[in-house]
Amino acid sequence: MLKIGHRGAKGYIVENTLASFQKAIELGVNGIELDVHLSSDGKIMVIHDETIDRTTSGKGFVKDFTASQLKKYGIPRLEEVFDFINKSCFINIEIKDFKATSSVLKLLQNYILEKNWSTHLFQISSFNWNVLESCSLKSNHIQLGVLTEDSIENALTFAKKINAYSINPYFKLLNVENVKEIHSYGFKIFPWTVNSEEDLTFVKSLQVDGIISDFPDRI
Ligand code: G3P
Ligand code: CA
Repeated sequence: MLKIGHRGAKGYIVENTLASFQKAIELGVNGIELDVHLSSDGKIMVIHDETIDRTTSGKGFVKDFTASQLKKYGIPRLEEVFDFINKSCFINIEIKDFKATSSVLKLLQNYILEKNWSTHLFQISSFNWNVLESCSLKSNHIQLGVLTEDSIENALTFAKKINAYSINPYFKLLNVENVKEIHSYGFKIFPWTVNSEEDLTFVKSLQVDGIISDFPDRI
């Protein structure tokens, strides 16, 4: 069962920062999850919200700052995170804004085709299924994760349509029956965000393939 650090190691260090990814690696993760938006100059920035208000000392929309301005607030570029992680674990890139899709694909293609990084080091996930559909049409070697917070049934139908790699559901949607059904179609299952001992015990008993947690060491 893979250990996946949510936004790095969000339970211990400020989320989606190099320090948080470093902490996750120290805690022995197999992979990290992170979120991306575009800067005003079209660079892929690693941040969860569409504004910088909650996680930095600044204020305003990510899309209104250049990458170098965002860097001063401690927000890394996706490429910088790839080089920092340097193949220590896989990276699940959650695309928050459809507009970032083609830039992310282009960057992954550069790392996979030019730098010879394995495709297994990357996953793209999104709640916006148009993002995933677009990725599936443009590339057949990127592992795609269908995020859902409300319907395993719809996610399963869509996963079949785009030949996804995994279904990444809110963990409370899972039960013994639907885990069995998802697995019968060959999809992996990576639920989020599982933090308490009680919830971890429940999710582990379902024999999912990996767990996304703010406290990946607890997995
Ligand atoms: O990828 C799973 C999880 O990160 C989705 O929710 O809001 O934390 O991005 P959120
Ligand atoms: Ca996320």
